[in-house]
Amino acid sequence: MPKLNEHYQNLKENYLFSEIAHRVAAYAKANPDKKVIRLGIGDVTLPLGSLAIQGLHDGVCHMAKAQTFKGYGPEQGYRFLRDAISAYLARNGAAVDADDIFISDGAKSDTGNISELFAADNVILIPDPVYPVYVDSNIMGGKTVTYLAGNAENQFLPMPDPNVHADLIYLCSPNNPTGAVYSHSQLKEWVSYALAHKAVILFDSAYEAFITDPALPRSIYAIEGAKRCAIEFCSLSKTAGFTGTRCGYTIVPKELSFTASNGKEMSLHAMWNRRQSTKFNGTSYIIQTGAAAVFTEEGMKQCQENIRYYQENARLIAGTLAQKGIRYFGGVHSPYIWFECPGGMESWEFFDYLLDKAQVVGTPGAGFGENGRRYFRLTAFGSRENTQEAMRRLEQLFG
Ligand code: MLT
Repeated sequence: MPKLNEHYQNLKENYLFSEIAHRVAAYAKANPDKKVIRLGIGDVTLPLGSLAIQGLHDGVCHMAKAQTFKGYGPEQGYRFLRDAISAYLARNGAAVDADDIFISDGAKSDTGNISELFAADNVILIPDPVYPVYVDSNIMGGKTVTYLAGNAENQFLPMPDPNVHADLIYLCSPNNPTGAVYSHSQLKEWVSYALAHKAVILFDSAYEAFITDPALPRSIYAIEGAKRCAIEFCSLSKTAGFTGTRCGYTIVPKELSFTASNGKEMSLHAMWNRRQSTKFNGTSYIIQTGAAAVFTEEGMKQCQENIRYYQENARLIAGTLAQKGIRYFGGVHSPYIWFECPGGMESWEFFDYLLDKAQVVGTPGAGFGENGRRYFRLTAFGSRENTQEAMRRLEQLFG
Protein backbone atom coordinates (compact mmCIF):
# COMPACT_ATOMS: atom_id res chain seq x y z
CA MET A 1 0.00 0.00 0.00
CA PRO A 2 1.43 3.43 -0.87
CA LYS A 3 2.01 5.90 1.91
CA LEU A 4 0.12 9.00 0.86
CA ASN A 5 1.01 12.64 1.15
CA GLU A 6 -1.20 13.12 4.18
CA HIS A 7 -0.60 16.84 4.18
CA TYR A 8 -3.50 16.89 1.72
CA GLN A 9 -5.70 16.21 4.74
CA ASN A 10 -4.84 19.70 5.93
CA LEU A 11 -6.35 21.36 2.86
CA LYS A 12 -9.93 22.55 2.57
CA GLU A 13 -11.96 19.94 0.68
CA ASN A 14 -12.12 21.99 -2.54
CA TYR A 15 -10.05 24.69 -4.15
CA LEU A 16 -11.86 28.02 -3.65
CA PHE A 17 -13.03 28.55 -7.23
CA SER A 18 -14.05 24.88 -7.65
CA GLU A 19 -16.19 25.22 -4.53
CA ILE A 20 -17.87 28.32 -5.94
CA ALA A 21 -18.44 26.62 -9.30
CA HIS A 22 -20.10 23.65 -7.54
CA ARG A 23 -22.41 25.87 -5.52
CA VAL A 24 -23.37 27.97 -8.54
CA ALA A 25 -24.00 24.88 -10.70
CA ALA A 26 -26.28 23.44 -8.00
CA TYR A 27 -28.17 26.72 -7.74
CA ALA A 28 -28.54 27.05 -11.53
CA LYS A 29 -29.82 23.47 -11.75
CA ALA A 30 -32.42 24.08 -9.05
CA ASN A 31 -33.43 27.46 -10.55
CA PRO A 32 -33.29 27.05 -14.34
CA ASP A 33 -35.49 30.12 -14.93
CA LYS A 34 -33.14 32.53 -13.10
CA LYS A 35 -30.35 34.40 -14.90
CA VAL A 36 -27.20 34.10 -12.82
CA ILE A 37 -24.54 36.80 -13.27
CA ARG A 38 -21.01 35.58 -12.55
CA LEU A 39 -18.68 38.13 -10.99
CA GLY A 40 -16.79 35.54 -8.97
CA ILE A 41 -13.64 34.12 -10.53
CA GLY A 42 -11.51 36.74 -12.26
CA ASP A 43 -12.06 35.40 -15.75
CA VAL A 44 -11.95 37.81 -18.69
CA THR A 45 -14.85 38.13 -21.12
CA LEU A 46 -13.52 40.31 -23.97
CA PRO A 47 -11.94 38.57 -26.97
CA LEU A 48 -8.21 38.74 -27.63
CA GLY A 49 -6.87 41.78 -29.51
CA SER A 50 -6.43 41.49 -33.28
CA LEU A 51 -2.62 41.51 -33.01
CA ALA A 52 -2.62 38.60 -30.55
CA ILE A 53 -4.96 36.74 -32.90
CA GLN A 54 -2.66 37.48 -35.84
CA GLY A 55 0.32 36.23 -33.78
CA LEU A 56 -1.53 32.99 -33.04
CA HIS A 57 -2.41 32.60 -36.74
CA ASP A 58 1.24 33.14 -37.67
CA GLY A 59 2.23 30.37 -35.26
CA VAL A 60 -0.32 28.01 -36.81
CA CYS A 61 0.96 28.82 -40.34
CA HIS A 62 4.55 28.07 -39.26
CA MET A 63 3.40 24.65 -38.08
CA ALA A 64 2.01 23.93 -41.57
CA LYS A 65 5.35 24.20 -43.43
CA ALA A 66 8.41 21.98 -43.11
CA GLN A 67 10.76 25.00 -43.17
CA THR A 68 9.12 26.70 -40.18
CA PHE A 69 7.64 23.73 -38.33
CA LYS A 70 8.50 23.47 -34.61
CA GLY A 71 8.70 20.38 -32.45
CA TYR A 72 9.88 20.55 -28.84
CA GLY A 73 10.85 24.08 -27.98
CA PRO A 74 13.22 25.34 -25.31
CA GLU A 75 11.76 24.61 -21.86
CA GLN A 76 12.57 28.20 -20.87
CA GLY A 77 10.57 29.65 -23.77
CA TYR A 78 11.54 30.97 -27.19
CA ARG A 79 14.10 33.73 -27.35
CA PHE A 80 11.77 36.02 -29.35
CA LEU A 81 9.24 36.05 -26.50
CA ARG A 82 11.79 36.39 -23.70
CA ASP A 83 13.31 39.37 -25.55
CA ALA A 84 9.86 40.93 -26.09
CA ILE A 85 9.07 40.63 -22.36
CA SER A 86 12.43 42.06 -21.38
CA ALA A 87 11.75 45.08 -23.63
CA TYR A 88 8.25 45.47 -22.14
CA LEU A 89 9.64 45.41 -18.60
CA ALA A 90 12.25 48.01 -19.57
CA ARG A 91 9.44 50.30 -20.79
CA ASN A 92 7.85 49.82 -17.34
CA GLY A 93 10.95 50.82 -15.42
CA ALA A 94 12.48 47.39 -14.74
CA ALA A 95 15.73 46.24 -16.36
CA VAL A 96 15.53 42.45 -16.61
CA ASP A 97 17.88 40.18 -18.56
CA ALA A 98 15.91 38.09 -21.08
CA ASP A 99 17.90 35.03 -19.89
CA ASP A 100 16.32 35.37 -16.46
CA ILE A 101 12.79 35.04 -17.89
CA PHE A 102 11.13 31.61 -18.00
CA ILE A 103 7.96 31.29 -20.08
CA SER A 104 5.19 29.13 -18.62
CA ASP A 105 1.51 28.35 -18.92
CA GLY A 106 0.58 30.94 -16.30
CA ALA A 107 1.41 32.35 -12.90
CA LYS A 108 -0.83 29.86 -11.08
CA SER A 109 1.44 26.91 -11.96
CA ASP A 110 4.64 28.75 -11.21
CA THR A 111 3.54 30.30 -7.90
CA GLY A 112 2.39 26.81 -6.90
CA ASN A 113 5.51 24.99 -8.11
CA ILE A 114 8.15 27.39 -6.80
CA SER A 115 7.89 26.06 -3.25
CA GLU A 116 9.66 22.87 -4.45
CA LEU A 117 12.91 24.83 -4.44
CA PHE A 118 12.72 25.53 -0.73
CA ALA A 119 13.09 23.25 2.29
CA ALA A 120 10.24 22.59 4.70
CA ASP A 121 11.77 24.36 7.70
CA ASN A 122 11.77 27.89 6.28
CA VAL A 123 9.83 30.68 7.95
CA ILE A 124 7.27 31.49 5.26
CA LEU A 125 5.24 34.69 5.41
CA ILE A 126 2.04 34.84 3.40
CA PRO A 127 -0.37 37.75 3.50
CA ASP A 128 -3.90 37.12 4.71
CA PRO A 129 -6.02 37.73 2.66
CA VAL A 130 -4.33 36.64 -0.57
CA TYR A 131 -4.57 34.36 -3.64
CA PRO A 132 -5.12 30.88 -2.09
CA VAL A 133 -2.58 29.05 -4.29
CA TYR A 134 0.37 30.24 -2.16
CA VAL A 135 -1.01 28.74 1.04
CA ASP A 136 -2.42 25.56 -0.52
CA SER A 137 0.79 24.71 -2.36
CA ASN A 138 2.84 25.10 0.82
CA ILE A 139 0.39 22.98 2.81
CA MET A 140 0.65 20.26 0.12
CA GLY A 141 4.42 20.26 0.71
CA GLY A 142 3.96 19.90 4.47
CA LYS A 143 5.17 23.42 5.13
CA THR A 144 4.11 25.74 7.91
CA VAL A 145 2.91 29.20 7.00
CA THR A 146 2.98 32.36 9.11
CA TYR A 147 0.35 34.90 8.15
CA LEU A 148 0.94 38.57 7.53
CA ALA A 149 -2.23 40.34 8.55
CA GLY A 150 -3.81 42.58 5.95
CA ASN A 151 -6.72 44.64 7.24
CA ALA A 152 -8.54 47.92 6.83
CA GLU A 153 -6.12 49.58 9.30
CA ASN A 154 -3.07 48.88 7.13
CA GLN A 155 -5.07 49.31 3.91
CA PHE A 156 -4.43 45.59 3.23
CA LEU A 157 -0.72 46.33 2.71
CA PRO A 158 1.14 44.52 5.51
CA MET A 159 4.69 45.74 6.11
CA PRO A 160 7.72 43.89 7.50
CA ASP A 161 8.55 43.78 11.18
CA PRO A 162 12.35 44.12 11.28
CA ASN A 163 12.45 42.14 14.55
CA VAL A 164 10.70 39.11 13.11
CA HIS A 165 12.79 36.89 10.86
CA ALA A 166 11.45 35.30 7.66
CA ASP A 167 13.10 33.25 4.91
CA LEU A 168 10.39 33.49 2.27
CA ILE A 169 7.80 36.19 1.73
CA TYR A 170 4.93 36.06 -0.73
CA LEU A 171 3.68 39.45 -1.93
CA CYS A 172 0.98 40.17 -4.49
CA SER A 173 0.68 43.73 -5.82
CA PRO A 174 -1.82 44.83 -7.08
CA ASN A 175 -3.25 42.46 -4.56
CA ASN A 176 -5.67 39.70 -5.29
CA PRO A 177 -8.26 39.97 -3.71
CA THR A 178 -8.08 43.45 -2.14
CA GLY A 179 -6.80 45.53 -5.07
CA ALA A 180 -4.26 47.23 -2.77
CA VAL A 181 -0.98 48.28 -4.42
CA TYR A 182 2.39 48.74 -2.71
CA SER A 183 4.04 52.08 -3.32
CA HIS A 184 7.67 52.40 -4.35
CA SER A 185 8.77 53.25 -0.80
CA GLN A 186 6.80 50.36 0.71
CA LEU A 187 8.34 47.87 -1.69
CA LYS A 188 11.74 49.37 -0.96
CA GLU A 189 11.14 48.60 2.70
CA TRP A 190 10.33 44.97 1.82
CA VAL A 191 13.44 44.68 -0.36
CA SER A 192 15.64 46.14 2.43
CA TYR A 193 14.09 43.70 4.89
CA ALA A 194 14.66 40.75 2.56
CA LEU A 195 18.29 41.73 1.95
CA ALA A 196 18.92 42.18 5.68
CA HIS A 197 17.37 38.78 6.49
CA LYS A 198 18.76 37.01 3.40
CA ALA A 199 15.15 36.22 2.57
CA VAL A 200 13.53 35.72 -0.82
CA ILE A 201 10.42 37.65 -1.90
CA LEU A 202 8.06 35.74 -4.19
CA PHE A 203 6.38 38.64 -5.95
CA ASP A 204 3.19 38.08 -7.93
CA SER A 205 2.57 40.94 -10.36
CA ALA A 206 -0.23 39.29 -12.37
CA TYR A 207 -2.34 42.48 -12.20
CA GLU A 208 0.43 45.01 -12.97
CA ALA A 209 -1.16 46.10 -16.25
CA PHE A 210 -4.07 47.59 -14.28
CA ILE A 211 -1.80 50.16 -12.62
CA THR A 212 -2.54 53.57 -14.08
CA ASP A 213 -0.45 55.74 -11.73
CA PRO A 214 3.09 55.89 -13.17
CA ALA A 215 4.48 56.47 -9.66
CA LEU A 216 3.41 52.95 -8.59
CA PRO A 217 5.87 50.12 -9.29
CA ARG A 218 4.71 47.54 -11.84
CA SER A 219 7.58 45.18 -11.14
CA ILE A 220 9.62 44.53 -8.02
CA TYR A 221 12.72 45.04 -10.17
CA ALA A 222 11.86 48.73 -10.29
CA ILE A 223 13.36 48.65 -6.77
CA GLU A 224 17.13 48.69 -6.42
CA GLY A 225 18.54 45.50 -4.94
CA ALA A 226 15.48 43.39 -5.81
CA LYS A 227 17.45 41.13 -8.13
CA ARG A 228 19.37 39.90 -5.10
CA CYS A 229 16.24 38.95 -3.17
CA ALA A 230 13.19 38.52 -5.41
CA ILE A 231 11.53 36.19 -7.88
CA GLU A 232 8.67 37.69 -9.90
CA PHE A 233 5.67 35.93 -11.44
CA CYS A 234 3.51 37.45 -14.10
CA SER A 235 0.76 36.34 -16.41
CA LEU A 236 -0.91 37.28 -19.65
CA SER A 237 -4.28 36.15 -18.28
CA LYS A 238 -5.41 39.53 -17.03
CA THR A 239 -3.03 41.69 -19.08
CA ALA A 240 -4.01 40.28 -22.44
CA GLY A 241 -7.06 38.08 -21.84
CA PHE A 242 -5.10 34.79 -21.97
CA THR A 243 -7.07 32.96 -19.24
CA GLY A 244 -8.05 30.38 -21.87
CA THR A 245 -4.93 30.53 -24.02
CA ARG A 246 -2.52 30.21 -21.03
CA CYS A 247 0.80 31.99 -20.92
CA GLY A 248 2.82 33.50 -18.12
CA TYR A 249 6.41 34.13 -17.12
CA THR A 250 8.62 33.92 -14.10
CA ILE A 251 11.77 35.92 -13.55
CA VAL A 252 14.51 34.24 -11.54
CA PRO A 253 17.57 36.52 -11.55
CA LYS A 254 20.99 34.87 -11.69
CA GLU A 255 22.01 37.03 -8.76
CA LEU A 256 19.86 34.87 -6.44
CA SER A 257 22.40 32.55 -4.94
CA PHE A 258 22.61 31.13 -1.40
CA THR A 259 24.95 28.88 0.54
CA ALA A 260 23.63 25.37 1.16
CA SER A 261 24.19 23.46 4.41
CA ASN A 262 27.18 21.62 2.85
CA GLY A 263 28.80 24.97 2.00
CA LYS A 264 28.01 24.79 -1.72
CA GLU A 265 26.60 27.85 -3.49
CA MET A 266 23.19 27.12 -4.97
CA SER A 267 21.64 29.34 -7.60
CA LEU A 268 17.84 29.60 -7.62
CA HIS A 269 18.03 30.36 -11.34
CA ALA A 270 19.89 27.10 -11.98
CA MET A 271 17.51 25.18 -9.70
CA TRP A 272 14.40 26.54 -11.44
CA ASN A 273 15.97 25.80 -14.81
CA ARG A 274 16.70 22.25 -13.65
CA ARG A 275 13.16 21.87 -12.35
CA GLN A 276 11.51 23.23 -15.46
CA SER A 277 13.64 21.26 -17.91
CA THR A 278 12.84 18.07 -15.98
CA LYS A 279 9.12 18.58 -15.43
CA PHE A 280 7.97 20.97 -18.18
CA ASN A 281 8.33 20.83 -21.95
CA GLY A 282 7.61 24.47 -22.59
CA THR A 283 4.60 26.53 -23.58
CA SER A 284 3.14 25.82 -27.02
CA TYR A 285 4.96 27.62 -29.85
CA ILE A 286 1.64 28.94 -31.20
CA ILE A 287 0.77 30.50 -27.84
CA GLN A 288 4.22 32.07 -27.69
CA THR A 289 3.85 33.70 -31.12
CA GLY A 290 0.50 35.09 -29.94
CA ALA A 291 2.10 36.28 -26.69
CA ALA A 292 4.99 37.98 -28.49
CA ALA A 293 2.47 40.07 -30.45
CA VAL A 294 0.95 41.20 -27.14
CA PHE A 295 4.27 42.67 -26.00
CA THR A 296 4.72 44.95 -29.00
CA GLU A 297 3.77 48.58 -28.33
CA GLU A 298 0.73 48.25 -30.61
CA GLY A 299 -0.26 44.92 -29.01
CA MET A 300 -0.09 46.48 -25.57
CA LYS A 301 -2.27 49.39 -26.72
CA GLN A 302 -4.96 46.87 -27.63
CA CYS A 303 -4.63 45.23 -24.22
CA GLN A 304 -4.96 48.61 -22.55
CA GLU A 305 -8.22 49.25 -24.41
CA ASN A 306 -9.68 46.09 -22.90
CA ILE A 307 -8.30 46.98 -19.49
CA ARG A 308 -9.98 50.40 -19.68
CA TYR A 309 -13.28 48.65 -20.37
CA TYR A 310 -12.85 46.54 -17.22
CA GLN A 311 -11.78 49.60 -15.26
CA GLU A 312 -15.04 51.28 -16.19
CA ASN A 313 -16.88 48.20 -14.85
CA ALA A 314 -14.87 48.54 -11.63
CA ARG A 315 -15.91 52.19 -11.41
CA LEU A 316 -19.59 51.20 -11.78
CA ILE A 317 -19.31 48.59 -9.04
CA ALA A 318 -17.45 50.96 -6.71
CA GLY A 319 -20.03 53.69 -7.40
CA THR A 320 -22.90 51.42 -6.39
CA LEU A 321 -21.18 50.36 -3.18
CA ALA A 322 -20.33 53.97 -2.30
CA GLN A 323 -23.92 55.01 -2.91
CA LYS A 324 -25.11 52.29 -0.54
CA GLY A 325 -22.60 53.34 2.12
CA ILE A 326 -20.66 50.07 1.91
CA ARG A 327 -16.95 50.41 2.65
CA TYR A 328 -14.83 49.07 -0.20
CA PHE A 329 -11.17 48.83 -1.29
CA GLY A 330 -9.48 48.37 -4.65
CA GLY A 331 -11.09 48.78 -8.05
CA VAL A 332 -8.69 51.50 -9.22
CA HIS A 333 -5.39 49.79 -10.09
CA SER A 334 -7.05 46.43 -10.01
CA PRO A 335 -10.02 44.56 -11.52
CA TYR A 336 -11.19 43.58 -8.04
CA ILE A 337 -13.47 45.41 -5.63
CA TRP A 338 -13.19 44.21 -2.06
CA PHE A 339 -15.91 45.24 0.36
CA GLU A 340 -17.32 44.64 3.81
CA CYS A 341 -20.25 42.25 3.80
CA PRO A 342 -23.37 44.28 4.60
CA GLY A 343 -25.25 43.70 7.84
CA GLY A 344 -22.26 42.11 9.56
CA MET A 345 -22.73 38.91 7.55
CA GLU A 346 -19.94 36.36 7.16
CA SER A 347 -18.67 35.99 3.61
CA TRP A 348 -20.07 32.55 2.75
CA GLU A 349 -23.40 33.58 4.25
CA PHE A 350 -23.35 36.70 2.07
CA PHE A 351 -22.39 34.58 -0.95
CA ASP A 352 -25.52 32.43 -0.50
CA TYR A 353 -27.66 35.49 0.23
CA LEU A 354 -26.50 37.33 -2.89
CA LEU A 355 -26.93 34.28 -5.08
CA ASP A 356 -30.37 33.50 -3.70
CA LYS A 357 -31.76 37.05 -3.63
CA ALA A 358 -30.05 38.66 -6.63
CA GLN A 359 -28.52 35.77 -8.61
CA VAL A 360 -25.15 37.51 -8.50
CA VAL A 361 -22.03 35.42 -7.89
CA GLY A 362 -19.04 36.90 -6.09
CA THR A 363 -16.15 35.44 -4.15
CA PRO A 364 -16.36 35.07 -0.35
CA GLY A 365 -13.45 36.78 1.39
CA ALA A 366 -12.96 33.77 3.67
CA GLY A 367 -11.59 31.90 0.64
CA PHE A 368 -8.58 34.23 0.71
CA GLY A 369 -7.85 33.82 4.42
CA GLU A 370 -9.21 34.36 7.89
CA ASN A 371 -8.96 38.14 7.59
CA GLY A 372 -11.37 38.01 4.65
CA ARG A 373 -14.09 36.39 6.74
CA ARG A 374 -16.29 39.49 6.67
CA TYR A 375 -15.35 40.69 3.18
CA PHE A 376 -16.50 39.92 -0.34
CA ARG A 377 -14.88 40.31 -3.76
CA LEU A 378 -16.53 41.27 -7.04
CA THR A 379 -14.65 41.19 -10.33
CA ALA A 380 -14.82 43.83 -13.04
CA PHE A 381 -14.14 41.23 -15.75
CA GLY A 382 -17.83 40.74 -16.63
CA SER A 383 -19.49 42.26 -19.67
CA ARG A 384 -20.73 45.86 -19.30
CA GLU A 385 -24.31 44.69 -19.66
CA ASN A 386 -23.98 42.05 -16.93
CA THR A 387 -22.12 44.41 -14.62
CA GLN A 388 -24.83 47.05 -15.00
CA GLU A 389 -27.56 44.49 -14.45
CA ALA A 390 -25.77 43.11 -11.36
CA MET A 391 -25.51 46.63 -9.95
CA ARG A 392 -29.22 47.27 -10.53
CA ARG A 393 -29.95 44.08 -8.59
CA LEU A 394 -27.61 45.12 -5.76
CA GLU A 395 -29.23 48.55 -5.56
CA GLN A 396 -32.65 46.92 -5.21
CA LEU A 397 -31.42 44.42 -2.66
CA PHE A 398 -29.91 47.08 -0.43
CA GLY A 399 -32.91 49.38 -0.81
C1 MLT B 1 -9.10 34.87 -9.28
O1 MLT B 1 -10.29 35.00 -9.54
O2 MLT B 1 -8.63 35.08 -8.15
C2 MLT B 1 -8.20 34.45 -10.37
O3 MLT B 1 -8.84 34.45 -11.58
C3 MLT B 1 -7.68 33.11 -10.13
C4 MLT B 1 -6.49 32.81 -10.99
O4 MLT B 1 -5.92 33.70 -11.62
O5 MLT B 1 -6.11 31.65 -10.99
